[in-house]
Amino acid sequence: MPIGIMSAMREEIETLIHELEVTEKVVRGMRSYYLGKLWGKEVVLVFSRWGKVASATTATHMITDFEVSEILFTGVAGALDAKLEIGDVVIGDCMYQHDMDASPLVEPFEVPLLGRKYFETNPMRNQMLLKATSMFLKDLKIHFKSDEPDRFGITQPKNLLGSVASGDQFISKKSQIEKIGSDLPGVLCVEMEGAAVAQVCYEYKIPFNIVRTISDKANDNSHIDFPRFATEVASRYASGIIKNYFSSYSI
Ligand code: ADE
Repeated sequence: MPIGIMSAMREEIETLIHELEVTEKVVRGMRSYYLGKLWGKEVVLVFSRWGKVASATTATHMITDFEVSEILFTGVAGALDAKLEIGDVVIGDCMYQHDMDASPLVEPFEVPLLGRKYFETNPMRNQMLLKATSMFLKDLKIHFKSDEPDRFGITQPKNLLGSVASGDQFISKKSQIEKIGSDLPGVLCVEMEGAAVAQVCYEYKIPFNIVRTISDKANDNSHIDFPRFATEVASRYASGIIKNYFSSYSI
């Protein structure tokens, strides 16, 4: 069974497609699914589009139509934790939906009928991803021909394992950061898809893991040159980390 790789950044998937020995392309529900071999592993690659609905439907197709054995999500995120800098990497362990609130029927953030406030990612794969990411960040300069990391102020990037919060909002206001920070203490970063895909994987009982590169600090400056960051930085991170991850992968 292939490994499903999803990203909400088109640029990341395009970079991976360049490395893919494509066997088939299938278009379904406004998404293009690329099947083939990536660094020796059978994979399905797809650009999920943005938000929880877009990513949940894509994940469902990955599982039911393409029978992926697990899903790895890559992409960018806004930092919530003050120790994170642009260019750092978060490997998600607990995935929350910060905009889920069916109270008073169930507690805020609890996903109705599942009785849980977060979904866990696969611990063994998280350890492999941490190693793959450390290796990539140690040799960061090798992966960049230009001074792109410096341009974005990336000097000594680090990686952390921790909680991630997803919601259908691009976070750029202080009031939003403060609310998520006080509602869900300990969350490292925010994005718009991960916990939705984590829920689908939980429901279908397949492993889920996620790697997010910090692109902004979820504040007034979070409109940074996104297309450039995606092409020049995030795409190189995603392909470098996945290549290292696959080389250690023997599951
Ligand atoms: N993805 C990257 N940055 C983000 C932000 N500030 N809010 C939500 N999703 C993001």
